Amino acid sequence: MGVKKGSALLEDEQQETHRSWLARYRELAHYFSLLCFLLVVVALLQTLCLVQITSVFQSQWTLQETKLGDATHRLEKLNQSYQLLFSQYPALNQYCPVSNTTTGERACRPCPDGWTPQGHKCFLFSADRADWISSQYRCLALGGAVATVRTEEEQVFLCNKAQSLSQGDSYWLGLRSSGGDAGWQWSDGSPLEGGPGFWGHEPDKTDGGELCGRLTPGHDYRRSWFTYRCSNLLRRICERRQASLH
Ligand SMILES: *[C@@H]1O[C@H](CO)[C@@H](O)[C@H](O)[C@H]1NC(C)=O
Ligand SMILES: *[C@@H]1O[C@H](CO)[C@@H](O)[C@H](O)[C@H]1NC(C)=O
Repeated sequence: MGVKKGSALLEDEQQETHRSWLARYRELAHYFSLLCFLLVVVALLQTLCLVQITSVFQSQWTLQETKLGDATHRLEKLNQSYQLLFSQYPALNQYCPVSNTTTGERACRPCPDGWTPQGHKCFLFSADRADWISSQYRCLALGGAVATVRTEEEQVFLCNKAQSLSQGDSYWLGLRSSGGDAGWQWSDGSPLEGGPGFWGHEPDKTDGGELCGRLTPGHDYRRSWFTYRCSNLLRRICERRQASLH
């Protein structure tokens, strides 16, 4: 009886241990499934994130591609306008020459190559000599005329420049006397009278024949114009307007 009771007790105890193991196992399984569930949720979230990032990236990519296409198109149009401008207005090449042959970059200046800007004009001092009429034609061929002097400032500039270039050699100015009452005129036909004058000595009104005006730089810029036979050969000063769209 005692042994029977003892074995029953043992059995009970065994069953008890078995049950507690089962309970623990269940608990573990429960936690494990919870963990799995969480892992699945995290994985899902990650996938969702990836999909979203990819789609955002793709849409941005297409946006950039569209923008690039747009910019390329506009660049082509600009290039066409640019080419057209320079082919239709060749004078632009004079004022905006290519300054960098590798890049084709242009730099615009108020005066063409070789001309010196002063005020609103550009001046060109020649090294060759010609009579007054030929000088006028040569200036005209360059889009200008033999220089006129309208202000004291211009006179000072021309004197200094002529002096530094030729050490006292003379230059034709755009001054001409048709003789008689018409008096002295500038190359554009306007009368000298009324404007500033810088004669070395006042021209003799009775002097017959065709006379023109030369600039001979000396110690006094106020007295540097002289009359000279128009058929004589001299260097010349040409003038032209500075570049403008008027
Ligand atoms: C512009 O057009 C010219 C001639 O059509 C071409 O030589 C040049 O490469 C073009 N430049 C650009 C930036 O497209
Ligand atoms: C022309 O442009 C290139 C590129 O900007 C530069 O490296 C080069 O020095 C330039 N050349 C001149 C003569 O300015």
